[in-house]
Amino acid sequence: MLNDIKEVLFTEEQLKETVGRLAEQVNRDYAGKNVLLVSVLKGAVVFMADFMRALDLKCEIDFMVVSSYGSGTKTSGNVKIIKDLDVPIEGRDVLIVEDILDSGVTLSNLIRMLEERRPKSIEVCTLFDKPERRAAHVYAKYIGLKVPDEFVVGYGLDFDEKYRNLPFVGVLKPEVYTK
Ligand code: IMP
Ligand code: MG
Repeated sequence: MLNDIKEVLFTEEQLKETVGRLAEQVNRDYAGKNVLLVSVLKGAVVFMADFMRALDLKCEIDFMVVSSYGSGTKTSGNVKIIKDLDVPIEGRDVLIVEDILDSGVTLSNLIRMLEERRPKSIEVCTLFDKPERRAAHVYAKYIGLKVPDEFVVGYGLDFDEKYRNLPFVGVLKPEVYTK
C-alpha cells in the first residue's frame, strides 16, 4: 500500500495537532451545550473518532450515508441519502463533522435538507478544505487544513474504497489511477 503513495502531505503528527486545534475551538464555542456530532460516512469516520475524543464536552454522535464519488475521482453532482440520522434534530445544536470540503455540492445539499428539520444551530467542522474546487456555497465555521487541488488519500479518505487506513494523508502515484 505504501508503494502507491507519491508524496505525504500531512503526517500523523500534523493531523493530531490539527484535530486538537479544532477541538479547542469547538470546546470553547459549545461549552455547556449538548452538541450532536453528525458525520457523513465513510470518509469522516477516522476524523470523527479522533475529534470526539479530543472534545471535553457532553456530546452525541450520529451518522449519515450519502452517495459519493463511487470509484472515480470526480463528483457526480447530486446527493442521495442512503442512511438518515437515527434521531430528530429539532432544537438541537448540530455540528457536521466532515472529512473534506471539495465542490461543496454534497454538504450544501445536506445542510439544506437538515435545516428543514429546524435544528437550533447547524455548523460545519471539516478537517480538509479544497477551496479551489468549490462549486456550491458552504460556510464551514471550523476548517482544519487547506489542501491543494489534488486527490488525496488516507486518514479516512479513499480512492476506490482503498487507502482509508493510512494514518497520514498523501497523494497517489498517477499510475494507480490508470491501472
Ligand atoms: P463534494 O464537496 O460534494 O465535492 O464532496 C466531498 C466528498 O468527496 C468528501 O466527503 C470525500 O468523501 C470526497 N472527496 C473529495 N475530495 C477527495 C479527495 O481528494 N480524496 C478522497 N475523497 C475526496
Ligand atoms: Mg469518498
